[in-house]
Amino acid sequence: MPTPIILDCDPGHDDAIALLLALGSPELELLGVTTTYGNQTLEKTTANALRVLELAGRVDVPVASGAAAPLERDLVVAAHVHGESGLDGPALPPPSIGPASMDAVEWIAGAVTDAARPVTLVPTGPLTNVARYLEEHGTDGLERIVLMGGAIAEGNMTPAAEFNVWADPEAAQIVLHADVDVTMIGLDVTHRAVTGPDVQRRLRAAGPIGIFVAELVDFFTVYHRQTYGWDGAPIHDAVAVAHVLRPGLVETNRRNVEVELDSELCRGRTVVDLWRRTERAANAHVGVDLDPDAFFDLLVERVARLG
Ligand code: RIB
Ligand code: CA
Repeated sequence: MPTPIILDCDPGHDDAIALLLALGSPELELLGVTTTYGNQTLEKTTANALRVLELAGRVDVPVASGAAAPLERDLVVAAHVHGESGLDGPALPPPSIGPASMDAVEWIAGAVTDAARPVTLVPTGPLTNVARYLEEHGTDGLERIVLMGGAIAEGNMTPAAEFNVWADPEAAQIVLHADVDVTMIGLDVTHRAVTGPDVQRRLRAAGPIGIFVAELVDFFTVYHRQTYGWDGAPIHDAVAVAHVLRPGLVETNRRNVEVELDSELCRGRTVVDLWRRTERAANAHVGVDLDPDAFFDLLVERVARLG
């Protein structure tokens, strides 16, 4: 039986690749896609989700748009990484379809209620939608939450914090303290999922969708070459989907994670008690390692299935 998931995302280059990985994986039943501000404005991330679904011939997958801004913080988007459209690089026509009329939170509530089995939420953007859902509807009907965000020792929005958690730290704290199994796939793991020339070559040989993914990576690499000197880009969000798909790809330790809310210097820092220095209760499975070769083998193989 396929695992029912909902992808809550802010496409975004790596979100788009995560979406395609989910679509190419029969082990998953993608109930729908909900969108949030993040890499770009809500309007643009929603249009991008629709564009990618249309490209993949999957306009049957519902899209519901959610939060246009964080719970409390000011809206900041990552146009410096993902471009003005949020999906700069490959030529992709505007969507000819629109999102559901229902807000993301209400759409998730309906999908969870109607699902034949408990649903796995896979957030790959700021956690505003998921926090609102948990506050309004609780955790009944949820299997677990596998999120891309945070870090043990890295920061990409600031020296201290990862973007998804930094964007809405209050939302992240709500999610991490909800009564549900949470896995945190952070930068320490996703920075081991950096593409290289060989992966790009294999993607370009994997059909039209593979070429599209390679073109996304080409654009996504520009920022990462400038910032880290890498000849590739970290496919952060696809690692979260891959973890649901293929247990064992990511090694996790169950630890306490708290989010810094008060300090401006360390806003959105995920404080992971990796060596159990405190008595704070473990509240998340924290990603600590990844098998990058197995990850990219899976990604290329599943993208190739999309034709
Ligand atoms: O920090 C990386 C995360 O922020 C990824 O989800 C990327 O898409 C951006 O949303
Ligand atoms: Ca994202």
